[in-house]
Amino acid sequence: MSSSIAAARIVILGTGGTIAGRASQTGDNVSYTAGQVAVADLVAAVPALNASRLEVEQVSQVDSKDMGLSVWQSLVTRLVYHLGQLDVASVIVTHGTDTLEETAYLLQRLLQPAKPVVLTCAMRPASALVPDGPQNLSDAVAVAQQAQGGVLVVCAGQVHAAQDVAKVHTYRLDAFDSGDAGALACVEEGHVRCFRPWPGGGTAPGDSARLAQFLAIDALPRVELITSHADADGTVVRALLKWGAPRPVRGIVVAGTGNGTVHHDLIAALSDAQAQGVRVVVSSRCAWGRVVPHPGLAFEHSSGLSPVKARLALALDLLGA
Ligand code: SIN
Repeated sequence: MSSSIAAARIVILGTGGTIAGRASQTGDNVSYTAGQVAVADLVAAVPALNASRLEVEQVSQVDSKDMGLSVWQSLVTRLVYHLGQLDVASVIVTHGTDTLEETAYLLQRLLQPAKPVVLTCAMRPASALVPDGPQNLSDAVAVAQQAQGGVLVVCAGQVHAAQDVAKVHTYRLDAFDSGDAGALACVEEGHVRCFRPWPGGGTAPGDSARLAQFLAIDALPRVELITSHADADGTVVRALLKWGAPRPVRGIVVAGTGNGTVHHDLIAALSDAQAQGVRVVVSSRCAWGRVVPHPGLAFEHSSGLSPVKARLALALDLLGA
């Protein structure tokens, strides 16, 4: 590590999650309340971090299942501020695991940061007998010191890119996976071992117009996510089309079966939606793989994005439309 990097500040923004969770019984890893412990206390619980030049700030205290526009706007505002400070080398965000992949994708799309933005989390609350948050936080600091840019996710010794990462397990400590792309790197005793190039590379400018719009809105364009399944009949889509002001549906992402196939009754309803000006994007409900484009696809495909990320991508596209 160069001395200039060692001297630069790392800012840690707390947003809540299980990493800041507390249960009434030590050893209870499921009946706890997320977002209880201040980010300053999470950092203080890792004595090894005393040597690093860290600054902490509490942005929110939410269970990330409840994540939404106002917290995202606060987080983006603080990230823009801190990343713009010359002596800030990188920013870490503590976050719940449940919607972490959505926040990571959103931040990468809006900021494309030249400095590393490292999201980390935990699957066990801070009050657990053996919490995983302290190690994840320590690994996140190592990644923040050694990565080259982009939005990254650190959990259970692995480093993932925002584009690829997904929560794939309900309980295991290594709950995240990057599918076919694989992890970017791993952290071994504070050393980051890279498997492939860092995303972002420190050069891409953010889309400043889109960012300004995002920070000014009261609500994202309404994009709903539905699933194709046996017996799907399109009733949900027809109900959505009746839903008018103040936030009519402007986009629908369908998590299709297999390679983006959709039940023919649902195709009929979605085609009606399209005829009424609603953008329809098809992704896949498969945990792994992407919708491989081919002429027979009923609707535009999600360019490899999972359903939840495709929903955000479409909402951001519609923001600019
Ligand atoms: C949350 O997402 O805030 C709760 C679950 C977790 O962090 O594991």
